This record gives sequence, structure tokens and C-alpha cells, in this order.
Amino acid sequence: MKKILCIGAGYVGGPTMAVIADRCPEYRITVVDINEKRIAAWNSDHLPIYEPGLEAVVKRCRNRNLFYSNDIPGSIREADIIFVSVNTPTKTFGAGAGKAADLQYLEKTARSIVEYAENDKIVVEKSTLPVRTAQAISRILHSNTKNLKFQIISNPEFLAEGTAIADLENPDRVLIGGMETPEGKKAIAEVAAIYEHWVPRERIITTNLWSSELTKLVSNALLAQRVSSVNSISALCEKTGANISEVTAAAGRDSRIGPKFLTASIGFGGSCFKKDILNLVYLCGYYGLQEVADYWEQVVKMNDFQARRFVANMLAAMFNTVADKKIAILGFAFKADTGDTRESPAIAVCRQLLDEHAKLAIHDPKALDNARTDLEDARGIIDFCEDPYDAVKNAHAIALMTDWSCFRRLDFRRIFDLMEKPAFLFDGRNLLDHEALYRIGFNVYPIGRKALTHFPAAN
Ligand code: UDX
Ligand code: ADP
Repeated sequence: MKKILCIGAGYVGGPTMAVIADRCPEYRITVVDINEKRIAAWNSDHLPIYEPGLEAVVKRCRNRNLFYSNDIPGSIREADIIFVSVNTPTKTFGAGAGKAADLQYLEKTARSIVEYAENDKIVVEKSTLPVRTAQAISRILHSNTKNLKFQIISNPEFLAEGTAIADLENPDRVLIGGMETPEGKKAIAEVAAIYEHWVPRERIITTNLWSSELTKLVSNALLAQRVSSVNSISALCEKTGANISEVTAAAGRDSRIGPKFLTASIGFGGSCFKKDILNLVYLCGYYGLQEVADYWEQVVKMNDFQARRFVANMLAAMFNTVADKKIAILGFAFKADTGDTRESPAIAVCRQLLDEHAKLAIHDPKALDNARTDLEDARGIIDFCEDPYDAVKNAHAIALMTDWSCFRRLDFRRIFDLMEKPAFLFDGRNLLDHEALYRIGFNVYPIGRKALTHFPAAN
């Protein structure tokens, strides 16, 4: 029986290993983490992350061929293939602070592997990494004095949160990069054999190591660029009377552009987009390509601008002051169907509103705990509401931050009655039926579309 180990039981490692265990019953999969609480949660009825469909897969496989363990040394010793999916956040200190990836967790993992391994192994990079990280890992691993050989494989994960299980079960592609040597090719084939259990062979792409590492950064950069491009045009739509949804629907009909990922919003969030672009920016600067670095950095700047613009629009609409006004924040997660709030644009919006001395009441179906942590310093002055109707009671405005479909089913007539008048609704996701809200009495401010207000035109 082949033994697979995954180091790092987070948003990537957790769901990925669950699906591999589900699809490959003859492999024994162990997942370890330095965070013992996280492992205990994976072994409990309350998994540490929320992902539709995940619980069912874990329940099917746990203690069959999927094990969560705190025994890192023993698990390393036993494993044939080790997936590394530890976190690689943006560096907050020293050289490259604010842009470069912080590789300390990765390096510590590589050093643990060197310390405990007793036979040759395949080490698979799952975490997103700067190009040529595999070289550094290889050097650390081969510093061992036990004459062990390691093959480094890059197998970046493209799953999106909220659809992780569906993405893993039916991926557009699986990318596997390795050394172009006979041993490298053998290792690529071994990793490909895992995915061949359920992914059609033509969707499994093999490349050299550096292409694979770079592809992950580029894929996220291109997706984020699309969102920033649409958001930049949403600003122009608001000035000109064009409607962003009509523009993107018509532009997206061109098969070269395609209809997906063209929804205007308050901006992208999540643990990957900003981090990966800044990582790309840092790499380009490092290799002396300043123009290329500046080009990509603009994607992040445009994203920050969109959140600032949203708050500026709120202020302008609400008579240039929100001081002491209650504002209901609907949604705090960075997107629907996840409790994850990392880099959520809601954080930036809330912080700006707090700077303006607004009183906030936040509701999210899955992300309230994370919201409490993110806004820890402002806890006393924010209400965190399990019930959306509590959040909107006596509010002057609603700011919708996350595209949870359950928000569409709220009773907006009841909400209108609960609010102060005039009642403002700022839809940061263009999620709701704006005409219907307007008819109820709301003054509605979408993204990239004309506002629907009951105020007489200024003369
Ligand atoms: C992303 C990539 O999609 C995935 O392939 C990679 O492995 C990790 O990073 P994720 O961050 O989980 O996944 O979510 P994604 O669905 O890509 O959304 C990212 C952000 O962009 C969210 O805040 C989302 O709301 C926003 N977005 C997305 C838009 O604002 N408009 C869109 O049209 C699409
Ligand atoms: P991602 O979204 O990339 O999966 P997460 O932060 O959700 O990132 O998960 C990464 C996990 O890796 C965390 O649970 C963290 O505790 C774990 N981790 C970090 N360093 C190590 C290490 N040296 N050994 C084992 N686990 C680690």
C-alpha cells in the first residue's frame, strides 16, 4: 500500500487529501499539522473549515484510508510521497516585506523531512511558491548526510474556495512539473498515477518544474486582472450611464473573452490573488523587470481603489457623513459559500467606515467568528449579529459585501420597515433585485450602474 503524507491541514491540504483518499482507496493518506487544535478538529464532527460537500467526503474516508495525526516524525518516516501544503504568506518584515513570499514554514518543513526521513521520497509542492523554490527545497533536502535522494515535484492546486470539492473532483486540469531527468519523469508519473484514478489523462499536464511553479502565479494573476479590469470599467459606467452588467455580458459573448469571472464587485479577496500578484511583482523586480512588475502591481492598486471608491460613494450619498450612523454590513467572507475572510474587501470597507465613526453591525452566515478576529481591536464598538434582521434594525444603510445567495431571500419589506429613513442600500456585489428594492422605498446604489433614488434631482 502506497503511503501519502500531507504536511499542512489547511484550506488546500485538507480538501485535497480528502478527495485523493476518496478516489484512491488503496492509498493510505495521513495529514499532519503543527497546529494540534486543527488536527483535533479534523478528527471531530466540527471540521476546521467550511466547504460544501467536504464533510461527507471526510466522513466516508476518515479512519478508513484517511488519517489526521500529530505524529509528524513518524508520518514522515513512513511516507512514500509527501505533499507540502503549509502556508506561504506575504513577508511582513525584512527584505521584500509586503511583497515576497515568506518561506519560513516551507523551509522548516523541508528541514523536518531531512531530519526524519530514512528512505528516498517524492516531495510535492502544493503550496503556491515563487518560481525556483523547488531548487531551494532540493538543496535543503539533499544536505542530508544519510545519502537519501529526493525528487521534487510541483503540483499546484487550482481549487477555489466554496467549490473546492467540485473543483477537485472535476478539475479543468492537473498540472505536474518535475525535473527533466529519468528520475524526475518517474516521479512525475507516480504523482500522475494518483490523479489518473479519476481525472481523464488528457487533463493531466506535465511540464518542467519552473513552468509549473510559474503557471500557478500566472493563472491567479490573470484571473485577478480580469476582476480589476471589470471593476475599473464599473467606475466609468457610473460616470457615463453605461451598465457594467450589460457591458460584460455583451463583451463576454466574444468566445475569445468568455463569460466567466466578469462580475463587478467591491473587489477580490481571498488568500491567493493579492499574495500571488505581489509575489509575481517581487519576482519581476528581482530579475530587473521593473516595467513588468509595475504592470502587475496595478491590478492590486485597482482593487484597493475599488473598496475606497465604494466607501466614498457611500459617504457622498449619505450627505457626506456617516458619523454615529448605524450601518449594517451584510456578508464578511471574501466570497459566498466560505467562512474564510482572508483579504476580504469587507475588512477594508469596515475599517474605512470605522474611521468615519460609523457604528457597524455585521452579519454573515459563516464568517462571524473570523470577522470577530479580524476586527478584534474594534470589538467593543461593533455588533456581530447571527440574525440579519438584528443587524439592520435602526440602520441608516446596508452595505452588501458578500454574494451569499441567501441574501436574495431576505424579507426586504420587513428590513425597510426596521431601518431609519431615508434607507440606503449599497450593493457591493450587484446581487439583489434593485428595481424591486427601489419600489419598496430603498435608495439603491449598485456597482457600475445608475443609482435608483427617491430624491428629487438637484436643480
Ligand atoms: C482563486 C482561484 O480561482 C483558484 O484557482 C486558486 O487556486 C486560488 O485562488 P479563490 O480565491 O478561492 O480561488 O476564489 P475565486 O472564486 O477565484 O474568487 C476570488 C475573489 O474574486 C473573490 O473575492 C470573488 O468574490 C472575486 N470575484 C471573482 C469577483 O469579484 N468577480 C468575479 O467575476 C469573480
Ligand atoms: P492554505 O490556504 O494554503 O491551505 P492554511 O493557512 O489554511 O493555508 O494552511 C496551512 C497549514 O499549514 C496551517 O494549518 C499551518 O498550521 C500548517 N503548517 C505551517 N507550518 C507547518 C509545519 N512546519 N509543519 C506542519 N504544518 C505546518
